[in-house]
Amino acid sequence: MKKVGVAILGLGVVGGGTYKILSEHREQYKKSHGVDIVVESVLERSKERALSLGIEENRICSNIAEICSNPEIDIVVEVIGGIEPAKTFVLAALNSGKSVVTSNKELYCKYSHQLEKTAKKNRVGLFYEATCVGGVPVIRAMLDNLQGNNFTSIMGIINGTTNYILSKMSQSGAAYKSVLEEAKKLGYAEADPTSDVEGYDAAYKLSILSSLAFHTKIPFTEIYREGIDGIDNLDIEYGKRLGYSLKLLAIGKNEKSGIEVRVHPTFIKSDHPLAGVNDSYNAVFLTGDSVEDVMLYGRGAGALPTGSAIVGDIIYCATHPNHSYSTFNNTEKADSATKFVKNFGSAYYLRLSVQDKTGVLSKVTALLGKHSISVSQFIQESVRDDGRAPLILITHLNKEQNVMRAVSDINSTGFAKVEAVIRTI
Ligand code: HSE
Repeated sequence: MKKVGVAILGLGVVGGGTYKILSEHREQYKKSHGVDIVVESVLERSKERALSLGIEENRICSNIAEICSNPEIDIVVEVIGGIEPAKTFVLAALNSGKSVVTSNKELYCKYSHQLEKTAKKNRVGLFYEATCVGGVPVIRAMLDNLQGNNFTSIMGIINGTTNYILSKMSQSGAAYKSVLEEAKKLGYAEADPTSDVEGYDAAYKLSILSSLAFHTKIPFTEIYREGIDGIDNLDIEYGKRLGYSLKLLAIGKNEKSGIEVRVHPTFIKSDHPLAGVNDSYNAVFLTGDSVEDVMLYGRGAGALPTGSAIVGDIIYCATHPNHSYSTFNNTEKADSATKFVKNFGSAYYLRLSVQDKTGVLSKVTALLGKHSISVSQFIQESVRDDGRAPLILITHLNKEQNVMRAVSDINSTGFAKVEAVIRTI
C-alpha cells in the first residue's frame, strides 16, 4: 500500500484537530483510498502539547531542516499562521520537494504568487482549502466543480468571530464591547481581536476567493475594508424594525464597469439566505452564469472543521499525482486590464439626529435630492432628552460618492447630523 508521510507545523487548535482526524481515520483511508497516511513528524515548541495529543517523543522536531531533510515526509501541513516564520518554512518545504497544505490565509493572500511559483518550479502541490471558511469546501468547489461558470458575484459571511458578536448583540441587545469580552472568554475571539473585528481576516479571504471567482489576481490592497468595532446596538435594533439583519459581509462583484471588492458591516434583507447565518457559522453565496445561485454553509473555524478541510487537501494531494494550481494567472498584482470600481453602488441605511423644528424633514430630503438620492423607507422617533429626534432612512440604490457628499452636506447644516451610515443589500 502507498504510504504518505505528513509533517504538521504547529500544534495549536487546527494542528491538534488535524492530528486527531488523521489518527482516528487512518484505517478508513487505507480502505477507502488505498493510502496509509502517517504523521511522521510535528514541529512544535511545546513538547507537553505534542505529548498530550499522543504524539511519540521521537516524532517531535524543533527545526524545519529536520523535516525538509526527512525522505519519509511527502506533505507538510502549515498551521502556524501569520507571515513569519510560516513563509520561510513553507518555501523551505516546497524547495525540498514536499507538497504543502496550508490554512494560513494572510500568507496565502499576500504571497500566493511566490508560493505557487516555487511549488511549480519544484513540481509539488500547494493546497489551501483551509484558508477560507474553515470546513466549508468552497475552494475545491470553485477549482473543480464550478468551472462551468463565469461568476458575477461572490458574497460571504466569512468571519466567524464577527458573526458571533453581531448575532449575540442582535439576540441580547448588549453593547459591542461587552459581547466582545464575552466572546474572548468563550474562546470565540482572540485576546487581540484586531484582525477579525477590523475586517482584515475577511479581506484576506475575499482576496483569495474573488481571485478564484474572477480569474484574475485580486490583491488585498484593492479591497475596501471597514470592521464592526464602531457598531452601535441601536442600529441593529432599527435595522430589525426595517426588516434587516446586520452582518460583516464580504462582497465581490464582476460587472461590465469592472470589479468591486469590499468588506463592511451590511444590512441584509431578512428574506435573503445569508440573513439566517448566525453565531459562528459562515456561508458563501455565489452567482455564476451557468449554475445561477449556490450557497455553501457551515462551520468557518475550529479544530475539527478546519482540520476537515486540511485532511481533505492531504488526501487530494496523496491521490492526485499531477498537481494543478490556481485557475488564474497568479501574479502579485492584478493584470493591467483589470479595472477596480471604487465608486460602487448600494442602498444605504442612514441614522440622523435632527432638530425638532418645522421643515427639517423636508430640508433633509431636499439635500438628499440634490445628490439624486431618494428614500425607500423611514422611521421618525419622538424627541430625545437633548431636544433632537432620531430619523432613520433607507435609500434607494445610489453611488457611494453621492451618498458621502450628501452626508457631508447634511452634517454642515447644524440642524441635522448623520450618526450612522450602513450599506445594505
Ligand atoms: N478568526 C477566524 C474567524 C478563524 O473568526 O473566522 C477562521 O479563519
